[in-house]
Amino acid sequence: MVITQRRDTKIIPIAGGKGGIGKTELCANLGVRLGQLGYRTVVVDLDLGGSNLHSALGVKNKNPGVGNFLSDRALAFESLLSPTPYDNLQFIPGDVLVAGTPNITYAQKRSILRNLEELEADYVLLDLGAGASNNVVDFFLVANSGLIVTSPHVGAIVNAYSFLKNAVFRFLFRAFSGESDVEKFLRNQIKERRPGNPVKVSSVLSAMAEIDTEQALKAKRYIDLLQPLLVLNMVRSADDLNIGESLRDLVDKNLSITFDALGMIIHDESLAGAHRAHKPVMAANPDSFVGIEIDRIAQKIVQSPEFPTLALEKSLYADSYELLRIEAQNDLSTLQSEQNEESLRSESDAAEFIEVLTAQKKQIQELQGTIRMLTMRQG
Ligand SMILES: Nc1ncnc2c1ncn2[C@@H]1O[C@H](COP(=O)(O)OP(=O)(O)OP(=O)(O)O)[C@@H](O)[C@H]1O
Ligand SMILES: [Mg+2]
Repeated sequence: MVITQRRDTKIIPIAGGKGGIGKTELCANLGVRLGQLGYRTVVVDLDLGGSNLHSALGVKNKNPGVGNFLSDRALAFESLLSPTPYDNLQFIPGDVLVAGTPNITYAQKRSILRNLEELEADYVLLDLGAGASNNVVDFFLVANSGLIVTSPHVGAIVNAYSFLKNAVFRFLFRAFSGESDVEKFLRNQIKERRPGNPVKVSSVLSAMAEIDTEQALKAKRYIDLLQPLLVLNMVRSADDLNIGESLRDLVDKNLSITFDALGMIIHDESLAGAHRAHKPVMAANPDSFVGIEIDRIAQKIVQSPEFPTLALEKSLYADSYELLRIEAQNDLSTLQSEQNEESLRSESDAAEFIEVLTAQKKQIQELQGTIRMLTMRQG
């Protein structure tokens, strides 16, 4: 199995550790956008036990999905591809129609992963469940290009880090599967850690090199293949970017992997609104902040031929995090000035309203005066 991008199909798993941080919304909207840009795209609901990608896409869940594939051996994986109302976008539903699939076997997982690699598309996006269980991590490790979605809240950041840590060590174990000596060594390395003394990939590799340099080099080559990318969601202030950078530093220090930033999305109520209207925001309101930000993410993907290595304009910003900071500052200040304009507009609306009311009041007083005069004359 695995892992660097094969053929022209790019598989992009979307995970994050924590629930409710926007994995499904990102999957649906990025899928819609890549399709709008003319790329054949498939979004796959792999959140077994919690499938809801259909509702983020605004489609009815009436077709067989991954759950049916697991329970009916006669069903071909390809037959799960369902059309969507959006250009170039197909959808593979999860397990809403079949209950009890979260505990899938290793063989079933392998079968899904093999079939995903065979899909005919430019991009295959995988909506994964919350948590860092082996099932979720194994789906994440189908490609080296997984996205880690997190909000800037401490709980979400900690979950994102734990998810990455599990992914890195699971990947390392898989590199040496069948080599029981190395597996035992790795297990001991991880077990011997005490609280406050986190396991570090660099020290594991040095300890390994003392025993066998070749194996240590092999491990290093494997680790270097992993290139997860950060999507910071629900950003409310430019300071939120600091927490993204802290996560990058921690990943760099303890896990020794590159963790570039792919994009940021501000906290925007229009997402919830789009959900109620049963349409992804990318289709209903592409000019909203979220729409523009998801377009940026899509552009970075399609314009990076070596994705997940990002093709960035290094003369304009030092790294992907600085670009993210510029994007956030830009969007948040535009949002702020729109809100200021809005409140100015409502202030001037109020002033106009008072003027009209005053004029009306004057008219009424004049009218009352005329009526009084007329009545007096009559009297
Ligand atoms: N940038 C955002 N601004 C405002 N609301 C958002 C944003 N991103 C996501 N949401 C909202 O947060 C909620 C959770 O989003 P979503 O279902 O995509 O999360 P998830 O990570 O897939 O959750 P789960 O782990 O339960 O599958 C939804 O109501 C969604 O509309
Ligand atoms: Mg979800």
